This record gives sequence, C-alpha cells and structure tokens, in this order.
Amino acid sequence: MKDLILKLEENKNLTDYEFKKLIECCDNEVVKFLHNRARIVSQKVYGNKIYIRGLIEFTNYCKNDCYYCGIRKSNSNASRYRLTKDQILECCDIGYQLGFRTFVLQGGEDGFFTDEKLVDIISSIKSKYSDCALTLSIGEKSRSSYQSFYDAGADRFLLRHETADKTHYKKLHPDNLSLENRMNCLYDLKDIGYQVGSGFMVGSPFQTVDTIIKDLKFLKELNPQMVGIGPFIPHKDTKFCNETSGSVELTLKLLSIVRLMIPNALIPATTALGTADSNGREKGVLAGANVIMPNLSPMDVRSKYLLYNNKKYTGDEASESVNNLKISMKKIGYDVVVDRGDYRTI
Ligand code: 5AD
Repeated sequence: MKDLILKLEENKNLTDYEFKKLIECCDNEVVKFLHNRARIVSQKVYGNKIYIRGLIEFTNYCKNDCYYCGIRKSNSNASRYRLTKDQILECCDIGYQLGFRTFVLQGGEDGFFTDEKLVDIISSIKSKYSDCALTLSIGEKSRSSYQSFYDAGADRFLLRHETADKTHYKKLHPDNLSLENRMNCLYDLKDIGYQVGSGFMVGSPFQTVDTIIKDLKFLKELNPQMVGIGPFIPHKDTKFCNETSGSVELTLKLLSIVRLMIPNALIPATTALGTADSNGREKGVLAGANVIMPNLSPMDVRSKYLLYNNKKYTGDEASESVNNLKISMKKIGYDVVVDRGDYRTI
C-alpha cells in the first residue's frame, strides 16, 4: 500500500482500483505513513507556516435549496440577516488588527447584493486594505459578474464542486442546479485569473467510494489553488437531518491524498472538521493542511450562519482567539503567520 502513496507523491496517476484500495485502507501504519508523507510535501512547499483567513459571513439569505445546507431557502426556521457595508468594513478592521491579511466574504446566493453593491464593497475593502487578499465565496454567477468582481480587486474565489458525480449531484441539489453549471463556473473563474478553490463534503448522503474517486480525479484535472474538504454534518432543518456525519478519519485521509496529488494547494483544516472533532484542526494540519479560517463575523450573527448543527464559532474557531490558535499550532510545530498566504508555484 505504501507504494501507492509514493506513486501519488511522484505525481503519477492511480487507477480507480488503486484509489479504492487506498481510500478503503484502514491499516493504521499505512494511514500514518500517508499523513506523514502529506505533511512532508506540504512543508516542502509552505514550510511550517499556517495561513489564516478571516471569514466574514455577510449574508445568510440564499435563493438555493441545497438539501444538506442549513441556510437553504426553504428553511423557515433560519433567522436571516445581512451585514451592511460598514459592518463588513468593521470586520476587516478588527481582523487587520488581529493579523489577518486575507478576508473571505462568504454568503448565500443573495439577490440583495447586486453586482453593483458587491463591486462597491470589494473595491472599498481593497482600497482600504491594499496589502490584503480578498476571497469571495458567494456561489454561482455569470462570467461577466465574476469578471467585474475580479476587476474590482477580488483575488480568490471559493466554490466547492460538492460532488463530481452527476447522479450524486442531483441527489444533493434541486433540479435547477447542475454539476455542469458548477463546473463551468469553476473553469470561468480560473480563466479570469482568480486563485480558485474547490472541494467537497466527506460522507454526504449517497456518497460512495466511486463518487469520491471522481472527486479526486476532477480536482486533479481542475488543479485548483485551494481545496476545501470537510465532513458532512447534518442540520436539523434539512431533509438529511437523520443522516450520519461524515467520518473524521476518512476526511483526514482524503485531505492527505489531495495534498499528494496537488502539492502546492492551499488546504484548510475546515470548521466542519473542527466541529466534528475537538482536535480536528490540529489533526488536519498534521495530515497536510496549511490554512485555518477563523470566524470574523460580528458575534451576534455567528449563531445564524448555521450550515450544519453545532457549528463552532466560539472558542478556537473565533478570530478573537487567534492567540490560542497560535499556541495550539506552536505545540504541533507550526507558526501562524501574518501574511496574505498566496498560492506558490515552486
Ligand atoms: N455539512 C458540512 N458542510 C456543509 N456545507 C454546507 N452544508 C454542510 C453540511 N451540512 C459546506 C458546503 C459548502 C460550504 C460553504 O459548506 O460544502 O460549499
């Protein structure tokens, strides 16, 4: 099995059968070897640095109805909010002082925020914080909208593909959403010049080893600059409320595999991983992650941006606790740095 891991590290493709063997392998020693190799590869590119991103969840209104998501349109129990431009800028201000040099504007697909409004917010942030990177995570838009946000100064865009299997995609999303459009968006974003992030949930309902293999192969082909992988966690107000959460072990395994396949990727130890396991973030870093995205949203809205149950937003997930984060990373041999943390091509 170790030969497969080394093969991946040498940038060689695995067959579907080999991927399956590796994904299903539960031998502790092999899994440890996989995480170690992934960590070594991450350190070769990014050293022992951990990049932090300040996550600003600026709206939980969403016109979509993704079956897994707590802020889906038809969840009438969700208490909806939007931040004003001033509130967003205030988040950046607080974040800047805490040492953040990347801000991530994340939100549901909210028609209130027209292109014009978004362009205004983006250009205001970029002119005030010209040494910072700005990441958008605002869903599917037209190519011309993506272009105007890029022209306004946005540097990066996160859009998880969620699953690279058409049939699986249909089981997670209503009919008006398609994998094809999602993928087109990702290729548009890359083409425009964004640093692009994609990714998927681990253990989402109807996921199989075969769909995971498709996810890995799609990521290899897209070759994104960032990859977000976190366990699926059910939300009580969705039709998947009684499904089981994704496995932390499998998430870590896939994180390591992605690190070996895309050595230069910026890979977060996600909030979902930190929610599913109290040491999730450390485990993520030790499996090859090099990014953490603490929550910078105003305290009174954090409890409203609930994509899944028990989502963490206090304690170490909070930007205010960045000092604790520094300490916990130091303990495992990593330095949280004040840096934009751009993609490296070496
Ligand atoms: N569990 C875990 N992750 C989720 N996301 C949405 N809902 C859930 C859930 N129930 C993830 C999706 C989305 C990202 C912002 O959050 O992958 O792309």
